[in-house]
Amino acid sequence: MPVASTNPQSHTATDEQHMPRRKVLAWLTSVGLFGSAVLSAVSNLVFIKPRATYGQPARFAIGKPDDFPSGTRISLDVKRVCIVRDGGRMAAISTTCTHLGCIVGISDTGFACPCHGSRFDQDGTVTGGPAPKPLPWFKLSLAPNGELEVDKGTMVEPGTYLNV
Ligand code: FES
Repeated sequence: MPVASTNPQSHTATDEQHMPRRKVLAWLTSVGLFGSAVLSAVSNLVFIKPRATYGQPARFAIGKPDDFPSGTRISLDVKRVCIVRDGGRMAAISTTCTHLGCIVGISDTGFACPCHGSRFDQDGTVTGGPAPKPLPWFKLSLAPNGELEVDKGTMVEPGTYLNV
């Protein structure tokens, strides 16, 4: 005749079946907690990391003065600036239209905007169209290595030339 165990520490067949299930649930819980902790850490890092997109630098080199023969007006469309050389003096004039920001082109009389027809004279003064202000002039300087540098962060009075 079988004798029933009175020891509470003894395992029944039902307990044996529940143990693997408990282990699996404990493992799944651990994995879930660990995974959510990792996801939380990653999303915090992504949030903290700045996503600033930096535009073109305000100050850039454009080459040596000899690259710009006297009497030329060269528009650097990517930089949105026109380099003017008149004998031994040079200047940098913005080619961003003061109306709505289109790039103005060089015309016989100065600059012309293809978007809404604003016109500017050789110095960037408005001569027609909806542009409310003249084209700004930027600081042009000579770096120690002999390269010309345009500083679009610094505007100068129209008519301010660099002697080269
Ligand atoms: S953007 Fe140049 S005239 Fe409008």
